Amino acid sequence: MAPPGPAGAHPNSAEPLSRRIFRKFLLMLCSLLTSLYVFYCLVERGQTLSGPIVGLSGGGEEAGDPDRGVLAGGPRELAVWPAATHRKRLLQLQQRRRRRQQQQRRPAAPRDDSDQTVWEEETPGLVVGPGGSGAGSSVAEAPPGTLALLLDEGSKQLPQAIIIGVKKGGTRALLEFLRVHPDVRAVGAEPHFFDRSYDKGLAWYRELMPRTLDGQITMEKTPSYFVTREAPARISAMSKDTKLIVVVRDPVTRAISDYTQTLSKRPDIPSFESLTFRNRSAGLIDTSWSAIQIGIYAKHLEHWLRHFPLGQMLFVSGERLIRDPAGELGRVQDFLGLKRIITDKHFYFNKTKGFPCLKKAEGSSKPHCLGKTKGRTHPDIDPGVVQRLRDFYRPFNLKFYQMTGQDFGWDG
Ligand SMILES: *[C@@H]1O[C@H](CO)[C@@H](O)[C@H](O)[C@H]1NC(C)=O
Ligand SMILES: *[C@@H]1O[C@H](CO)[C@@H](O)[C@H](O)[C@H]1NC(C)=O
Repeated sequence: MAPPGPAGAHPNSAEPLSRRIFRKFLLMLCSLLTSLYVFYCLVERGQTLSGPIVGLSGGGEEAGDPDRGVLAGGPRELAVWPAATHRKRLLQLQQRRRRRQQQQRRPAAPRDDSDQTVWEEETPGLVVGPGGSGAGSSVAEAPPGTLALLLDEGSKQLPQAIIIGVKKGGTRALLEFLRVHPDVRAVGAEPHFFDRSYDKGLAWYRELMPRTLDGQITMEKTPSYFVTREAPARISAMSKDTKLIVVVRDPVTRAISDYTQTLSKRPDIPSFESLTFRNRSAGLIDTSWSAIQIGIYAKHLEHWLRHFPLGQMLFVSGERLIRDPAGELGRVQDFLGLKRIITDKHFYFNKTKGFPCLKKAEGSSKPHCLGKTKGRTHPDIDPGVVQRLRDFYRPFNLKFYQMTGQDFGWDG
């Protein structure tokens, strides 16, 4: 006995024409919105997959984007449509603002380990398919928090490049200078994975790494790798393509610097002269003393060349790194396949310290010099002992110049 509802009524008799049209219109609007939503979800999905689903169709704007490094062009560097490019710029603006706020919050430590967060907010190569202007504009209008969740994740990668040595060669300086580059992400501390913690496994090692986005290089530095017998095979087992950087410095001044560092921690150790010799009157050098042993570069290099081709190693002069940091950084950026972004504009020389410092980085408030421990003054060493050491190292140095095809100028 229920009254006949509108659904049960005959359309022709019960409903006026305008109402029918309105219903159809509502129905169409609903399905349009639904399909837009489905499309939006599909695009999101396509972005998390690394396959070149959408990339085949686009003009590859990303590769020519001046903001990106040369490394752009990986499997996920796909086509970017104009709307997406615009959106990316908006995002980058937001990120810069956020970064600046973060830096203002931590003025004392502009580039410590916690600056990871700064780059975690960089956007990955954004992928939107054809018709992206419709679905895309709704993304652009979403609040920034949602965007961060959807787009700004990044992931931890095993390092593609490692500074493997040498101790007291200038590895810290090189890493700090390199970190100025937006496409370089590096661990602040020395992981010592391939010498001390190898049994913890690669997953543990990867967990130490900062998050990176496509086109960014993950790096670490542990100077003791260069003199660790097992390190070449272990790094090669991780990836045969790992790029290796060695900062080398005159082995005699390196040894003295090494000793000076130890002395500052343990003032009671014997003199440099007495540690240098096994038998001083016979002039017999104690090559088992690590301060001496590390400087026999040619011997260590032999082990590396059994696992890596020479072209995969870059030898940075520790002396030139101080005299002409921009010049050496140019070589390093080329070697890593990075755009030359770090130039002499980034440095100034502190005459008191005798050391180059970084000018304030973009958005940062303060200039950045290395800590107090860098550039210590060395104790006076008996000139006769220094000469004996020069004679000792000369043949090894010449061999090293030969092997690397580079004259580092330590022997006149
Ligand atoms: C040191 O060398 C000298 C000269 O060669 C030798 O007479 C002396 O026995 C050596 N001393 C030690 C402790 O080996
Ligand atoms: C240069 O280094 C000295 C000694 O470390 C430091 O006191 C000074 O502030 C530095 N000057 C500049 C301009 O960085």
